[in-house]
Amino acid sequence: MGRCEALTIHSQEPDKLTRGYGTAALRATQEEVATWMEAAGLTVRRDAVGNLIGRYEGKRATAKTLLLGSHLDSVGDAGKYDGPLGVLVALAVVEGLHARQERLPFAIELLAFADEEGMRFGTAYLSSSVFTGAFDSAWLTAVDTEGVSLADAILGFGGDPDGVVTSPPDAASLAGYVEVHIEQGPTLESLDLPVGIVSAIAGRNRVAISFTGAAGHAGTVAMPLRHDALCAAAEFVLAAEATALATPGLVATVGEIAIEPGAGNVIPGLARLALDIRHPDDTVREGACRRLRHQMEEMAAQRGVEATWQIVNDNAAVACDPHLSGLLADAIEQTGHAVHHLPSGAGHDPVMLAVVTSVAMLFVRCAGGISHNPAESVMIDDVAVAIEVVDRFVGMLADVGPATR
Ligand code: HGY
Ligand code: MN
Ligand code: MN
Repeated sequence: MGRCEALTIHSQEPDKLTRGYGTAALRATQEEVATWMEAAGLTVRRDAVGNLIGRYEGKRATAKTLLLGSHLDSVGDAGKYDGPLGVLVALAVVEGLHARQERLPFAIELLAFADEEGMRFGTAYLSSSVFTGAFDSAWLTAVDTEGVSLADAILGFGGDPDGVVTSPPDAASLAGYVEVHIEQGPTLESLDLPVGIVSAIAGRNRVAISFTGAAGHAGTVAMPLRHDALCAAAEFVLAAEATALATPGLVATVGEIAIEPGAGNVIPGLARLALDIRHPDDTVREGACRRLRHQMEEMAAQRGVEATWQIVNDNAAVACDPHLSGLLADAIEQTGHAVHHLPSGAGHDPVMLAVVTSVAMLFVRCAGGISHNPAESVMIDDVAVAIEVVDRFVGMLADVGPATR
């Protein structure tokens, strides 16, 4: 808990926690976590995109590797637990092994991902996609709001843009990936449970949408003659909301919008927005995307504006591994707590790790389900339960052996 607090001083903004990919704030965070990793007997490295990775050797050099971790980047004006809590719970477990001089029949790699949120370049799971060999090289030309390309940001972060398109790790060498994360929802609090097991992670699309109309004088262009890009975008935003309200389990969000030229007396000629749409069932999500794209085209035609729809991320829903989840359930029972399985509406790096290995997640109760908000909070006793569950899980995995994939 103290460490989560300590890391909040590393931020891009003086009075709030914002820690984007490739920033000095993230670098400083990594340096502090790296010292804690080394003190816990982990050997530390950074990969081509700048993921911080600590390795705790097993009894035998040829052993499999269990992956634990989460992310250190944040959204803007973030809470202090979304990401860092998962890294630090995993670190606490390895510290326990190190203190007991205990070696397992597998190695542990503690992954502190450098960009899960995609706040700076709009791409979800950017850095875990590098770890799993799923990086899309087209992302290298993406630019942030300052016009800096991802390739330059990787260089500036001490990484190697030519090294981010990698082959996936050998699945046979992995014993799975387990991530601890705050629930970011109200279920565990409503059930008065400290932890829960994630059954599946919802599928998600991130779509870059633009409407191009005609900038004009706010005082002289008659209303029927306008091609107002922002009005088209506003109509689309409400259509996305209406579609989600009408479709059980679907969530649709436009969290970013930019207009040009952006002056009070000029009819907006250009509107760019980011659509985030999710559902546990991929066919429902894909159907909603098709309908919304069609509505976007109809609205644009009626208003005489041009519209573009570009898929940035298309991540299928991911079911967590029954073997790993079963061991987590046993561990929870051994701590004396009830076992509850719940889906995750939030996206997490296991979506990407599932490309190469079995994945499982342990959620930690968070107050009011609040997240992506500085009011995010957890209780120390629940964090203690999470550490104990993962510690027992690791011991049981050592006894029963990793999942066969
Ligand atoms: O967007 C998400 O679901 C996660 O916080 N990256
Ligand atoms: Mn997160
Ligand atoms: Mn998040």
